[in-house]
Amino acid sequence: TSHALAIIAGDGIGQEVMDQALKALDAAERRFGFSTDRRDYDLGGRRYLATGEVLSDETLAELDEVDAILLGAVGTPDVPPGVLERGLLLKVRFAFDQYVNLRPVKLLPGVPTPIAGLTPDRCDMVIVRENTEGMYAGAGGLLFEGMSHEVATQESINTRHGVERVIRDAFTRAQARRGHLTMVHKTNVLNYAGDLWMRVFTEIGEREFPAVERAYVHADAMCLYLVNSPERFDVVVTDNLFGDIITDLGAAVQGGLGLAASGNIDPTGTHPSMFEPVHGSAPDIAGMGWANPVAAVLSLGMCLRQLGEGDAADAVEHAAATLLTELKTMAGPDMGGSTDDLGDRIATLVADPDS
Ligand code: NAI
Ligand code: MG
Repeated sequence: TSHALAIIAGDGIGQEVMDQALKALDAAERRFGFSTDRRDYDLGGRRYLATGEVLSDETLAELDEVDAILLGAVGTPDVPPGVLERGLLLKVRFAFDQYVNLRPVKLLPGVPTPIAGLTPDRCDMVIVRENTEGMYAGAGGLLFEGMSHEVATQESINTRHGVERVIRDAFTRAQARRGHLTMVHKTNVLNYAGDLWMRVFTEIGEREFPAVERAYVHADAMCLYLVNSPERFDVVVTDNLFGDIITDLGAAVQGGLGLAASGNIDPTGTHPSMFEPVHGSAPDIAGMGWANPVAAVLSLGMCLRQLGEGDAADAVEHAAATLLTELKTMAGPDMGGSTDDLGDRIATLVADPDS
């Protein structure tokens, strides 16, 4: 079988870590006997500064033809904030209806976590973040712009359709894991949105997933529990803004941004899903060879699983996990090799796990 992949390496360390993910992909293709048809797309901050273009409708239509998209990271210091977020990342998520943002939070053996005493058996969850609505829908406006009594509003959009589909997806994932789903919200204060979320959560759970155990946690308490007792969580479902925040906390708990992978998924398969490390282009370390490629490699693993290449996904994840046990630190000049060295090692481990 052959899969069409769009590769958006992007800026800064995006390119550096993507190179390593593609080496792992080469090795997986050789070992498991599938192939990919890869098309490179030059998008991101550098491209925007050179041409003024972020993502044209023609390019978007081309991207819609592939089976999956791999993204490194986009962003250069001289691009104004918001340009690439709204013009590229959110544009793809919304246009392709990638309504599930999936972020595993798993502490892998040998990884130093900032949480003293935390062991891998106590930290293995996936966070399902709603990815098309909420505060990120862009609803709101400015009144009396520029005047001393100026007013800014930012509204959270929650449709029954949108809430139902993401909660149903999360239940499905919980059923396939340990059978426990936690909803995170702020129902005590966000009374309208929280009420809709809670009713849908209870309805779908009772009617369609009676075997999945349900729990509810406020978003602020979630920040506490994620640090103090991550063993409470199997699958977590939450809205766009809370999900953005708690997944960064999750990334810290599991050992840092250099290890955190994510997928922007259209579970219906109508449009391609997009897989990317949680981190950005890290201009502070770009070009130094200090970037940890594991987040990008684990994102490739998620991509392979989505494409139905489960054995290849297992091999890629296993290789990344093995590499982590060999590293001295998780980022910086003392990891035990450059980004490129680590990528070579991962590819070797994908080809032969006993190497
Ligand atoms: P960042 O994630 O790029 O960097 C935050 C810190 O983590 C930096 O100190 C960086 O050196 C370190 N870091 C990140 N990834 C690492 C890795 N793989 N290995 C070792 N260390 C790593 O976030 P920041 O600095 O806020 O943003 C930099 C640029 O990236 C901005 O232009 C921002 O807009 C963009 N960005 C892009 C994202 C995307 O493409 N999805 C996501 C987040 C930020
Ligand atoms: Mg974020």
